[in-house]
Amino acid sequence: MNILAVASELFPLVKTGGLADVTGALPKAIAQYDIRVRTLLPGYPQVMRPVTARVKLADFTLLGARASLWSVFHEGLDLVILDCPELYERPGGPYVDEDGVDHPDNWRRFAALSKAAACIAAGLLPGWKPDLVHMHDWQSALTCAYLRAAGVSIPTVLTIHNLAFQGQFPTSVFPALELPDDFRGIDHMEYYDDICFLKAGIRMADAVTTVSPTYAREILVEDLGMGLQGVLATRRDVMHGIVNGIDTDVWNPATDPHIAANYDYRSIGRRRVNRMKLVDACGLEDGPGAIFSVVSRLTWQKGLDLLVPVIPGIVDRGAKLIVHGQGDRQFVAWLLEEVKRYPGKVSVKIGYDEATAHLIHAGSDAIIQPSRFEPCGLTQLYALRYGAIPVVGRTGGLAETIIDANDAAMSARVATGFQFQAGSVEDLYHAIDRALLTYDQPATWRKLQTQAMKADFSWARSARHYASLFSRLGEKARRVPFRPFHVRQPAPRIALHS
Ligand code: ADP
Ligand code: GLC
Repeated sequence: MNILAVASELFPLVKTGGLADVTGALPKAIAQYDIRVRTLLPGYPQVMRPVTARVKLADFTLLGARASLWSVFHEGLDLVILDCPELYERPGGPYVDEDGVDHPDNWRRFAALSKAAACIAAGLLPGWKPDLVHMHDWQSALTCAYLRAAGVSIPTVLTIHNLAFQGQFPTSVFPALELPDDFRGIDHMEYYDDICFLKAGIRMADAVTTVSPTYAREILVEDLGMGLQGVLATRRDVMHGIVNGIDTDVWNPATDPHIAANYDYRSIGRRRVNRMKLVDACGLEDGPGAIFSVVSRLTWQKGLDLLVPVIPGIVDRGAKLIVHGQGDRQFVAWLLEEVKRYPGKVSVKIGYDEATAHLIHAGSDAIIQPSRFEPCGLTQLYALRYGAIPVVGRTGGLAETIIDANDAAMSARVATGFQFQAGSVEDLYHAIDRALLTYDQPATWRKLQTQAMKADFSWARSARHYASLFSRLGEKARRVPFRPFHVRQPAPRIALHS
C-alpha cells in the first residue's frame, strides 16, 4: 500500500517539536506492514540545503505561485519536497520569522502544501499514486478539502498532534484558497466568524486520529476541546487514539553519539559519566543530590510557570535543576531570575539543541513535565529509555505512559515514574518530594530506573495500529466505490492545478 504523508516538519531535516519526531519515525516503523510512505514536505531553506541529490518530478502553479516537486531519499525516508521560493524560502522557522512572529501568509503557505498534496493524490507525479493520504495537523488539513472539491476519491486520515494549533484565519483570505464557496460555511471551515483549517480536516477526513487514547477522550469535552469539541463530536465514530512511539535508533543510550558514556539497563552506573559532563556543561556545582531537568518548549501548555514556584523547594532539598528550552519571554525571564538566585544549583540553557537534549536525558536523575495538557509527549518516553525518572502531570499521553510509583505499583515492579495532578503547583511539589524520598534509597531508585528503561515504547505497537487503520480504509475503498465523507451539498468540481 502506498501512503502520501503530508507534514510541515520532519526529523532530521526540520523540527520544532514532537511532530517532526513522529513524521520522521512512523514511515520506517510501518514499512514492515508492507506500507510505503512518501512524505510531502515544504522546501524551507533548512530542507533544501542538505538535500542536494534530488530529482525534479514536476513544475506547476500553486495558488498563483510557481512551484516544483523534487524527489529525495534522505536517511531512509522517501520525500517529495515542495519547492516554492515565494512561500518557503525565507529566514526564521517553519512557522515564524526570526523575531518569533508568525509569517503573515501562513494560511497561503500551508494551503499551498495541502493543495500540492491533493494534486499528487490526483496523479500529478509520473508513475506514482498513493492509495491513502495521511495529513498531520492543521498545516496539511486542507488536503481533504481540495480533494473533495476536485472530486478525487481517495481515503484520508487526519492526525491531530495538538488541538491548540488550529490554523484559524480571517474569512477575507477564503477567496484566495481557490475552494468552492460553500466550504466557507459552518459544515466545513467556518469557525466563530473566521475560517479554520483544522476544522476542515476534522469534518472531511475519513478518519481522525490523535496521539493518545486519553487525549482522544479529553478533547471531546469543553476543558480540552479548545472550541472544537462539538465539531469533534460529529466525527466521534471515526476517531481513534494511537499513542506515539519513539525512534529507538535515534534515542538509544547504548549507541547515542551525543552522550559521554553509553549504557543500558545492566550498566546504569555508567550514567555517572554523563552526569559529570552535564554538570560541567551547565555550570552546576559538583557534588551529590538529584538533578531534575526540563527539556521543553517554554510555554503555558508545558506549565513552566508552575515550575518556578517549586524551584526554592528543589534547591532547599539539596537537589539541582536544569531547564533547556526556548519560548515565552516572560517564562525565560522568571527562570533566569532563579539562576541568579541559585548560582551553581539552577541552570537555564535557552535555545534548541538536539545534542544537549540527549545529554540531559543521559545525565539527569529525573525529568519534570509540568504540562497543563499533553496530547502524547515524547520527552517522558525518551526519559524512560534513558533511565531519567519522569515526573509528569496526569494528563493526556503522560497519564497513560507513566506508571506512578505508588506502593502497589512499586511492589508489583511496574512503576516507572511519578504523577501529579496536572496544573497543581502543590501536587507538583509533592511529586518532587516523593521522588527525592525515593532517590534517597539507592536500591529502590535503581529498581525504578531499571523498570523505566525496560518499558517498551518503540513504534512497533503503535505502527501496527496505524497499519491496521490504513489497511481497513484502503480495503473499504477497493470494495465499494469510495465516497469521501459526505457534506450537505455536492461540491462543484474545481481544477487542482495548471
Ligand atoms: P511538543 O511536540 O509538544 O513540543 P513532545 O514531548 O512531543 O512535545 O516533543 C518535544 C520534542 O522536542 C522532543 O523530541 C524533545 O526532545 C524536543 N525538544 C524540546 N525542546 C528542545 C530543546 N530546547 N532542544 C532540543 N530538543 C528539544
Ligand atoms: C504535539 C504535542 C505532543 C505530541 C507531539 C507529537 O506537539 O504537544 O504532546 O507528543 O505533538 O505527536
